[in-house]
Amino acid sequence: MGKLEGKNIAITGASSGIGRATAIRIAKEGANVALIARNRERLEETAEAVRALGRKAVVIEADITDEAAVKSAVTQAIEGLGSLDAFHCNAGIYLRCEAKDLRMDQIRKLMEVDFFGCLNCVYAVLPYFLERKSGTIVTTCSMDGKKGVPPDAAYVAAKFAMNGFFQVLRQEMRGTGVHIATIYPSRTDTPQISHVDTPAITPKADPDMVAKAVVKAIVKKKKELMVPSFPCHLLTWADAISPSLSDWLVRVNGLAGTVNDRDPINEAK
Ligand SMILES: NC(=O)c1ccc[n+]([C@@H]2O[C@H](COP(=O)([O-])OP(=O)(O)OC[C@H]3O[C@@H](n4cnc5c(N)ncnc54)[C@H](OP(=O)(O)O)[C@@H]3O)[C@@H](O)[C@H]2O)c1
Repeated sequence: MGKLEGKNIAITGASSGIGRATAIRIAKEGANVALIARNRERLEETAEAVRALGRKAVVIEADITDEAAVKSAVTQAIEGLGSLDAFHCNAGIYLRCEAKDLRMDQIRKLMEVDFFGCLNCVYAVLPYFLERKSGTIVTTCSMDGKKGVPPDAAYVAAKFAMNGFFQVLRQEMRGTGVHIATIYPSRTDTPQISHVDTPAITPKADPDMVAKAVVKAIVKKKKELMVPSFPCHLLTWADAISPSLSDWLVRVNGLAGTVNDRDPINEAK
């Protein structure tokens, strides 16, 4: 028996990276999946991998910044799978740019997709979970939502906003039967940051590590999980003791990484 046998779960950003890895991981654990993103062709590739594992996959094309489209996507997921037990708010974009060089429209785009897009999903699915008195909303935040690392100011701002919102929502949902979980991955090996090389001390995580954290958050009702656990906890402990200490750790370990010659994907241009 898988850990999620017979569960029905929707995932945004399921056409790539962490979302695709999570779809495949939860299918291995016995769940059926509703796959949401904009690119149908890439969603179909994820769906094929899910179906090859003997699970149901429903493909739903939607832009998370479109409130009506997200509401319709949730309805399609419930109709397509019969019900929903969990919703993974995962879709997102990235932008690597020093704060002094950012344009306001770039910052707004980051907030529009990574923060408001995520909230469109929350407000589309929350009434359904509240009525059923059960359900999990799990979000892919980022370690950038715990400790800001240069040169990611706009992305960091969106992820800190997300972190704050979900901390409060989690407490307000206590006793309702609705569970709220937040995952904080450090740099992960996906197309989103293929143009960024990380230092040897913090190699990019395998997206399946993040997917396993999503499963753990749903099954064990975890509130927050950092991936990978130890180095991420170390950085947040250092930050709690002294911001100068955590700034120093970021600096001496070169956590900002460096840019290679690959083209950025899913960037807020
Ligand atoms: N990679 C990392 O180092 C890392 C670390 C921490 C957190 N994260 C977070 O993890 C999440 C997944 O990122 P990833 O690394 O897996 O990146 P990715 O491989 O680029 O995947 C991003 C996904 O988001 C979808 N997406 C982007 N904009 C969308 C929109 N407006 N509407 C619907 N779907 C949209 C993309 O699909 P379509 O293009 O088909 O729409 C794609 O499926 C993001 O929230 C990211 O911020 C990533």
